[in-house]
Amino acid sequence: MAQKTISPSMPKQRKSVLPIPEKIYRTLVENTLDGVYIIAPQERFEYVNPAFERMAGYKAKEICDKNFNFYSLIHPEDRILIKRRKVARKTGKPVPPQFTIRLLTKEGKTKHVEVNTVVLSGDKTRVLGTVRDISDRIRSEETLKFERQQLLSIFESIDEPIYVSDPDTFEVLFANQALRNIVGSAKRKICFKAFQGRSSPCPFCTNKHIFGENLGKPYIWEFQNDINKRFYKCIDRAIRWPSGKMVRCEVAVDMTEQKTAEKVFRNSEERYRDLVEKAGIAILIDDQEGNFKYANKRYAEMFGYRPEEMRNQSIQSVVHPDDVERVMKYHKGRLEGKNVPSRYEFKGIKKDGSPIYLEVDVVALKNGGPSIGTRSYLWDITDRKKAENEANDTMRKLRKALDGTINAIALTVEARDPSTSGHQRRVADLARTIATEMGISKDRIEGLRSAGVIHDLGKICVPADILSKPSKLSESEFSLIKIHPQVGYDILKDIEFPWPVATIIHQHHERMNGSGYPQGLSGDDILLEARILAAADVVEAMSSHRPYRPSLGLENALGEISKNKGILYDPAVVETCLRLFSEKKYAVK
Ligand SMILES: [Fe+2]
Repeated sequence: MAQKTISPSMPKQRKSVLPIPEKIYRTLVENTLDGVYIIAPQERFEYVNPAFERMAGYKAKEICDKNFNFYSLIHPEDRILIKRRKVARKTGKPVPPQFTIRLLTKEGKTKHVEVNTVVLSGDKTRVLGTVRDISDRIRSEETLKFERQQLLSIFESIDEPIYVSDPDTFEVLFANQALRNIVGSAKRKICFKAFQGRSSPCPFCTNKHIFGENLGKPYIWEFQNDINKRFYKCIDRAIRWPSGKMVRCEVAVDMTEQKTAEKVFRNSEERYRDLVEKAGIAILIDDQEGNFKYANKRYAEMFGYRPEEMRNQSIQSVVHPDDVERVMKYHKGRLEGKNVPSRYEFKGIKKDGSPIYLEVDVVALKNGGPSIGTRSYLWDITDRKKAENEANDTMRKLRKALDGTINAIALTVEARDPSTSGHQRRVADLARTIATEMGISKDRIEGLRSAGVIHDLGKICVPADILSKPSKLSESEFSLIKIHPQVGYDILKDIEFPWPVATIIHQHHERMNGSGYPQGLSGDDILLEARILAAADVVEAMSSHRPYRPSLGLENALGEISKNKGILYDPAVVETCLRLFSEKKYAVK
């Protein structure tokens, strides 16, 4: 652009109107907010107005001094610009009238200024300039630029694709780096082409959800991209673009990994659900109060309900009144972390009121804190229970028959020796009481009692006159008596009792120190049942009448076992027996 030239006095084109006095021009120049200067050759200031003085921080007198360095007002980086303009002006090249530079003030501050220059008419070496301080504007622009860069760097660094598009033209106005990494440069392209590879707008375009009455509201949706086949969750919203127009902004979050994991989980969950539903085991989940939260199909079937009817059930409604207190006690105890059985049996009640026997395996369910309920596996054991009951019945009948047989044998033995009538029964009773006191198992006690009732069975081979002889027996007669444990054993040894009856009888005359008969066994080689039977036999025999002697009395009988405690008789058995008579007031009946 060519530089204009004007006269330092009046502009010629204003001749047609009334001339303006120079005083008015001066007043204007002196009072304007822009700096005004006239510069002569050799970069010497001829004139600066007060605004220039204020801007530069120098007095006019200082600036217009012939020794003033013109370039001290110019930022070092901008001095070359001024020098080029000077050269251009000298060589007649076009010099733009307007430029911006940085002004250095007297205090050393930098100010951005916009300079307008005209070469004065007449003496073309003199230039008139106006200087406007644009520092504030530059600062605002720089701040805006900085903030824009900040925002841009945020959007560029976000890993999720973000774009802005014009809803009318579908033109992409902005696409961040994450999106550019996928689709390449997208700016100015058409969104459906660039992002979806389509030739027309996407049928699922969400513009209708974010403009109009939904303006400003976010719209969240999911889709699978046709190009890269990945799944995205998108948040779309209308935003105001710097142009003032409302445009579409979309942030897409890649959900592919999550979707794949969800699919795997869903498949896995479906498989487990199928497994649980089709399992032969009834499965139940209940809450702290025992209300059902989940019951599988098998569970419903077991109790005769339809699956949907199980939702309103609770422990109380399916457990038989006989067992409901115990089951609820376990349930509460389990939730409180108490030591209650995790596997047990109980009687349930079906929808039609009939009983069902069940075995259950229960664990408490926790969710990072206290128990929130329980999980149970249940098995219908009604058939097993029935079989068990039948077996028990059979067993009871067999035992009864056995008992009858044993009693019949006892009566046979005692029929041959009426003087000892009731001896075996009384010995059996005392032996059983001692065993019970010693805490021996019920089953062993039953065996001991049975052996006790027939312990003298072997005496059937002893001549009846020896058994009932009213006087003292000779040695040879006594040796005949002594074979009875062996005979009893021989008779019974091949009979399959549920207990070692034959052995107990065989050993009931053995003694702790080995002085007994027939085998001379000692200590622990003698069955405990035989050791109990031995003590009971002696106590009963001594305290009863015999054909050859009157009763020696209970006191003597207890004195005998007490005296020989640990020698002939088991010490624990003796102590228990003595305690029975002294503390428990046991009486031989
Ligand atoms: Fe005996």
